[in-house]
Amino acid sequence: MNKIEKKIKLLQKSLIYHNYLYFCLGKPVISDHEYDILFNKLKLLEKKYKKIYFSSPTRTIGSKIFSKLSLNKHLTPMLSLENVFTEKKFLNFYTKILKYKNEFLVNFVCELKLDGIAVNLIYKNGVLRKASTRGDGEKGEDITQNIFFVKSIPIKINGKNIPKLMEIRGEVLILKKDFIKLNKKNSFLKRNKFSSARNLASGSLLQKNFLNLKNRKLFFICHGFEVFNFFLDNSYYNILLKIKKWGFNISEKIIYSSSIKKILKFYSQIKNERFLLNYDVDGIVIKVDDLKLRKKLGVRSRSPRWAIAYKFPNQEKKTILKKVTFHVGRTGSITPVAHFVPVKISGITIKKASLHNKFFLDKLNLHINDRIFVCRAGDVIPQVVRKETINTKKRLIRIHFPEKCPSCRSFLEITSKSKKNFCTNYFFCLEQIKKRLVYFFSKTSFKIKDLGPNIINQLVDKMGFRNPIDFFGLDFHTLNNLKNVGKKFSKNILTSFKKFKSINLDKFILSFGIHGVGQVVSKKIAKNFKNLNKILDLKEEDLIEVCGIGKKITKNFINFIQNKNNRNIIFKLINNYNIHVKSYKKKDKNNKKFSFFLNKTILITGVFKDFSRKVLCNKLKNLGAEIKKSISKKVNLVIQGKNPGKKIFYAKKLGIKIIKENDFLKKISKN
Ligand code: IVH
Repeated sequence: MNKIEKKIKLLQKSLIYHNYLYFCLGKPVISDHEYDILFNKLKLLEKKYKKIYFSSPTRTIGSKIFSKLSLNKHLTPMLSLENVFTEKKFLNFYTKILKYKNEFLVNFVCELKLDGIAVNLIYKNGVLRKASTRGDGEKGEDITQNIFFVKSIPIKINGKNIPKLMEIRGEVLILKKDFIKLNKKNSFLKRNKFSSARNLASGSLLQKNFLNLKNRKLFFICHGFEVFNFFLDNSYYNILLKIKKWGFNISEKIIYSSSIKKILKFYSQIKNERFLLNYDVDGIVIKVDDLKLRKKLGVRSRSPRWAIAYKFPNQEKKTILKKVTFHVGRTGSITPVAHFVPVKISGITIKKASLHNKFFLDKLNLHINDRIFVCRAGDVIPQVVRKETINTKKRLIRIHFPEKCPSCRSFLEITSKSKKNFCTNYFFCLEQIKKRLVYFFSKTSFKIKDLGPNIINQLVDKMGFRNPIDFFGLDFHTLNNLKNVGKKFSKNILTSFKKFKSINLDKFILSFGIHGVGQVVSKKIAKNFKNLNKILDLKEEDLIEVCGIGKKITKNFINFIQNKNNRNIIFKLINNYNIHVKSYKKKDKNNKKFSFFLNKTILITGVFKDFSRKVLCNKLKNLGAEIKKSISKKVNLVIQGKNPGKKIFYAKKLGIKIIKENDFLKKISKN
C-alpha cells in the first residue's frame, strides 16, 4: 500500500466511525463543517488515485446500522446531497445544468437546508403506515411508534387525488427554544445535556420507550416524495403546494425561479436571517423543478445530479480561554481581547479574538480556562460566540474589565452610543501615542515604508519620541540600533522620509487620527474648505453648517486644530520639513471619462480586430479595471469580440452589462 492509499484508507475508516456516531448514536463528536472537510479531502484523494472504492463513505449514504430498533426497507433509496460552500462551486452546478439542457430557462426551487433528522413516511391509501430514519439509505430504523408524537405529521391525509402508495420525506426538527429549555431542565436535574437541537431530535426519535417523547415538541417539514404508478404533476413546486394542502409543512422560506441572481440573493438573505429562524438551518438546497429533467439528469452513487446543498460556512469551533488582555486604541478606546488555545478555522489558525467592549465581556461572564466557541464572522474576523455552560473546577479566575487605563492608569469614560470605555488622557497615554503614530505613518496616511509598530514602539519607549516631528529627524544610527531593525529597513525608512515631499489635504487631515474623522469626513472637510490655511481657522459652526458633520465629531476636530501643541506640529511639518499639503482640486474632465473602466471587473470573450487579448487586458488594467477569466456575480462588464464563447450566455443570464467591440473602441478612444 503506498502513501496515498494509506491516507485514503485512514480517512475512510475515520468517516465510517463519524457516520456511526452521527447517524446511529446521534452523538457526533465533530462539527458538520469538520466532517465536510474530511469528506471532501477523501473525495479528492480518491479522484486523484483513480480507483473506485465501492464501499467508501463517499459512495455510500448514511452509516451501517447498529441500532437495536427493527429495520424497514425504503421503497426507493434515500439519497444524500452534494455539498458546496462557495459561489464558484455553486455556479458550476448551475451552469452544468443549463449546459445539459442547452437552453437558458431551467426553473429551480430553493428551500432551507434543515439541520434535523431525515425520515421517510410510507402512506398507503392516505394512511401513515411506517416511519423510518434514513439509516444507510436503503434501510432505516423503524420509528413508527415514535412518529405519532410528531404533531405536524398527518396520520390520515384528507384531500382529493391522493396516490395509493407514496413516500413522504422530510426532516424532523425541534425548536431552538425547546432545546434550550430541555437542556436547562437537564442541567437542573444534573442529567446529561444535548450538544445540539439536532442531537436532541435524533435522540428523541430513536427512543425505545415512546412515553419519553411526550414532552418533546418535535415537528416535521417535508422536502421530498416518491409516488408509484400515479401522476401528480411534472413540477416539484406544484406538488409541494399540493402536499402543503394535505396538511404537511413545507420549507417556510422557498423560492421558485430560473434567475441565478435571485437564487444567490436568496442564499445571502437566508445566511443573514438564519439566526432569527426558530430552528437550525445550515444552508439552502437548490433543486431542479422539472421532474422529467430530473430523470434525465439522473443520480450518482449517493446524490442526485439535479440538486445541491449550498451550505453556510459553519465556522464555530470549541477551544479554551487562556487569558484576556485589554488594548488601548489610538482614540483611547479600550478593547478586551480573548487569547485561547489556537484553533484552525477554514484553513487559518486563530488564537485571539476581540471581545468588543465591557458590556460583551460582562455578558459572557468569562473565567480563565472556560470552554469557549469561536468563529470567523463573515468568514474572516475571529469572534468569540459564546461559552460552554458546564462547571469545571478550573474555572476560578473571573475576568473583570479594568477601572483604569491599562497603559496610563487614568480613569475611564464610557460613551453610551458605542458602549466603549475610553482613556481620556489624550496627550500622555503612551499606548494612545504609539497607536496614533502607527496610524500617522501608515499606508492610509503618510505612507513611510517599513515604519511599523515594532519600530515606533521602540522609539517611543527607548528614545522618548512622542509626536511625528521627532521621527522626521531620525538618523541611520538610531534606527539601526533598535531591536530587529537591520540596515535594509533603516535605509528604506530614511529614503522614504527623504522622498516624502507632499500629501493631499484629505490624507493630511486623516493622518492625525482624530476620533470620528475617518476617510469620509476628511474628504468632506477637504472638499469644502479646499486649503489648510482655511481649515486651521475653522469654527464649530462652519463645520456643522457646511459639511453637515455631527456635533461630537466637529468638537473633536475643532479641539484638535485649536490645540497649541497640534498647531505647532503642523507648522513644523510645513516650515521645518518642507511638507507640502496639496490644496483640494476637482478632478478634470478627462479624468472622469477615464474612469469608465475604473474599478470595473471585466471579462473578455471572443476575438478582437484591433488588439491581441494580452494588449487588451493590459490597456484595461492601466485604466483601473480588474480582469476575470470566469464568469461570476462579481463581473460587472463583459467585452464581447467576434465568436464569443459560452460565457456570453451566462453573462446574459446573470444580467451583466455587455459591450461589443465597436462600442468598446469608442469608449477607449475617449481616454
Ligand atoms: S432533498 C435527493 N431538501 O440533507 C434529495 N434534503 O445532506 C435529498 N435536508 O438527507 C433530500 N433539508 O435529510 C432535501 N430542503 C431539503 C433538505 C434536505 C435538509 C437533508 C436531508 C438529506 C440531507 C443531505
